[in-house]
Amino acid sequence: MARSMNDIVDEIKSRINIVDVVGRYVSLKKAGNNYKGRCPFHNEKTPSFIVSEQKQIYKCFGCDEGGDVIRFVMKVENIDFMDSLDILGKEINIDVKKELSNDFDKSSIKKKRKYYDMNLYIAKFYFNNLKNDNQARNYLEDRGLSNKIINRFGIGFASDSWEESKKFLKDKNFLESEIYENGLITKTKKGNFIDKFRNRIIFPIFNIKNEIIGFGGRVIDNKSIPKYLNSPETIVFNKRYNLYALNFVRKYSNKDYIIVVEGYMDVVSLNQYGITNVVASLGTALTIEQVKLLKRYYKKIVLCYDMDDAGVKATNRAIELLNTEKLNVKVLTLEDCKDPDEYIRKKGISKFNNRLQNAVTDIEFFIEQIRKKHNLNNSKEKTKYTQEVCSLLKTIDSEVKKEYYVKLLSKETDIAYDVISGEVFGGKKFKKDFNKKTYSKKNFKKKMLKNENLKIKFNKNDILEKNLILTFIEAKNFELKTHILKLEKDYMILDMTKEFLNSLDSVENFNLFLDKYQSSLQEFKELNYNDSLDFFNSLDILKKEIVTRKIKKLSLRQKELEKNKDGNENLEKQLIEIANEIMSLKKSL
Ligand code: CTP
Ligand code: MN
Repeated sequence: MARSMNDIVDEIKSRINIVDVVGRYVSLKKAGNNYKGRCPFHNEKTPSFIVSEQKQIYKCFGCDEGGDVIRFVMKVENIDFMDSLDILGKEINIDVKKELSNDFDKSSIKKKRKYYDMNLYIAKFYFNNLKNDNQARNYLEDRGLSNKIINRFGIGFASDSWEESKKFLKDKNFLESEIYENGLITKTKKGNFIDKFRNRIIFPIFNIKNEIIGFGGRVIDNKSIPKYLNSPETIVFNKRYNLYALNFVRKYSNKDYIIVVEGYMDVVSLNQYGITNVVASLGTALTIEQVKLLKRYYKKIVLCYDMDDAGVKATNRAIELLNTEKLNVKVLTLEDCKDPDEYIRKKGISKFNNRLQNAVTDIEFFIEQIRKKHNLNNSKEKTKYTQEVCSLLKTIDSEVKKEYYVKLLSKETDIAYDVISGEVFGGKKFKKDFNKKTYSKKNFKKKMLKNENLKIKFNKNDILEKNLILTFIEAKNFELKTHILKLEKDYMILDMTKEFLNSLDSVENFNLFLDKYQSSLQEFKELNYNDSLDFFNSLDILKKEIVTRKIKKLSLRQKELEKNKDGNENLEKQLIEIANEIMSLKKSL
């Protein structure tokens, strides 16, 4: 199969994980969402080389080198772009040099052109067939399709014959082997070639350049199976990389968002009602390649899948994919109807538009699914519902969005805002969850204080206090300040921490604080390997440290007083008080 340079680059980047490739040269450790290691491009003792699996890029904050997997191999092997493609291509069985070589390219481009031509001939043949077949025409008419829409989509009919298409194409001088390779005939057990599409409505499938790449064929009764037959994968038909009707959307719609549905009929039927910004995937679940294709043209996607269990599952999967590409996702749900086609025909365009206006965000869609599982009139169930939604809200990566849904949930459940916000932004529950997980507090502290990189540069006090400041900043949640303000300033060792506590009275002051200490905190951050810096854990550790500091201070005072206590009643009394205080502090540890 011949691919263009762009195709090859896309395929390499989508099929090879940069973390695996870099991992062969650099020892990588997980750090939050990313991986971290020592930069292979400059000499460094402490790691400032980051690999993002999500974004599939690397970046060194020490020497500023960065890029995608192809650039990484170029740099690390000191080779040029083509050689890097070649090496990476081999990993996924693409012979890059061969595919890009002129001969191969020319012959395969020619072949592709021939297959597009073949598809166009046969599409016209099916299209004309439809005009002559009453039964097929009636079927489409019954489904509400006008001639205008049938013409727009080039819908046709393959009649109930075994060799009609084959004969037609052979008359046009196509070889049987070519017709077969292009998926329009199939081989019987006896080895004869027969038409693939028989007695089916034909939906030609176009690529974005308006070339016909394959076909979907639907039976015209409601019993025969399979309901749909699609062209197989061919040199011109890659299901993963194309979307049904995207070419028409580009032509007929100037909307800034696009609706994704499941079926060919949904696309066509919505067009019948004037909704032209609709595509469908090609008989498979939405793929990441299709998402990337959409992303080239649209940043806002509305999912409108069937309302059955499979549709809900497909919606969940699609949301996940769309989120990895950072697209804005909404979900359009349709009550009492199985799919968009049925909905618009039963309820009409204005109701559909109304639903469209009210399409919910991905989070609201998830919440709705949780809501359906619980009877909210029962208080136990309501608590469960609230807890489940809180767990969901914790996973949102924007604090503003989190805040929005916390308010919504509080309103819906009549549970106080503070309680829900405590759960979502970290509170008792959060702490409990965390402790159950990988780190006990002790280990967490040990791990943090044992971090060799940190130890070289910072003493223990530095680490504890800076760590708290950093976790506060990373939590990106100013509301946590009330927890910190309870810390006693006098027992802080670093000026930075004292200033930090003073700055918490307003966002402006806090920003001034950040400006002043940004670089020193950044340095600390880069050396810090803790991939699970948890605000409440850090706070607890520091609180305990403060108690220890208090004990130390009291013990010193104790020793001082001991020296001249003899005969001094007042001092004796003080000493007893101090001893008591030390005891109760020790108990609290
Ligand atoms: N599909 C398929 N093969 C099947 C069934 C479905 O490839 N045996 C694909 C088709 O692309 C179809 C889509 O999945 O368009 C959605 O299936 P379905 O909802 O069953 O079909 P509709 O397009 O809604 O068609 P209709 O309304 O005519 O049933
Ligand atoms: Mn349908």
